[in-house]
Amino acid sequence: MNKIAEDSYVLVYRDRRRRWLVKPKDTPKLHTHLGILDMTALVGQDFGVNVTTTMGDELTVLEPTIEDLVMKLSRKTQVIYPKDLGLMAVKLGVRSGSRIIETGTGSGATTALMAYLVQPTGMVYTYDINPEFQEVAKKNIERVGLSKYVTFKIGDSRLGFEEKDMDAGILDVGDPWEVVHSMKEALKPSGPMAAVTPTTNQAEKLVAKMKEEGFVAVESLEILLRHLEARVGMTRPSNIMVGHTAYLNFGRKTLPPAAPS
Ligand SMILES: C[S@@+](CC[C@H](N)C(=O)[O-])C[C@H]1O[C@@H](n2cnc3c(N)ncnc32)[C@H](O)[C@@H]1O
Repeated sequence: MNKIAEDSYVLVYRDRRRRWLVKPKDTPKLHTHLGILDMTALVGQDFGVNVTTTMGDELTVLEPTIEDLVMKLSRKTQVIYPKDLGLMAVKLGVRSGSRIIETGTGSGATTALMAYLVQPTGMVYTYDINPEFQEVAKKNIERVGLSKYVTFKIGDSRLGFEEKDMDAGILDVGDPWEVVHSMKEALKPSGPMAAVTPTTNQAEKLVAKMKEEGFVAVESLEILLRHLEARVGMTRPSNIMVGHTAYLNFGRKTLPPAAPS
């Protein structure tokens, strides 16, 4: 069983909206509007322990999941949210040992989940045109202990990738149709790609380009996530909902038709 260490991230949890991700080493006393929590006293205890703040409020100390870590990364760009990342990982068939090509790195939220899934033998090769964004992503990935599974590269993905025979690819740039050809060149035959487009116009343009480049099984979709407030006798959908994050577009690389003999 994992014990809380000085240097481990812990998730101090009250409810969906009131949660703090901290390390006892960096935050010996956690100050919240529910009172102060002595984090050093937690070291050596089991995750899952219930604790009381100086104001008598009950909180639980949880071991963070990859979702908790991804949601707390520092952000300099828009990121892909876990609800979208989950289906992307499934459709791309990402697993331990996969080699993934990704652009742009942005804040590294997508990179973090993919690195988590491909470890310990896989690799995420991630490109960004903007070194400043990639520096933020590098720090984020380091903070969550996944640097060994990520190769960072600076470059314009429209000009191509150095990698070939990649198992799967992810596009999250402003003009993804400009990068579809590079993606095709980097993927192994039959390799799946996913691309994120905030608007329907972008989805249209992207899908046309994917078909032109010979991708098959091309599909576009959106995931709507609505929480349920489940309480005995009064269960109802949550009043608050994120209306839109992005459209997800998928396809599989094919080989060009063989020349007639
Ligand atoms: C929305 S962010 C990606 C966010 C990332 N998926 C995440 O979850 O954190 C888009 C990134 O694409 C980068 N970008 C835009 N055009 C690019 C290009 N042609 N080549 C490489 N990176 C590019 C931008 O600099 C930016 O960092």
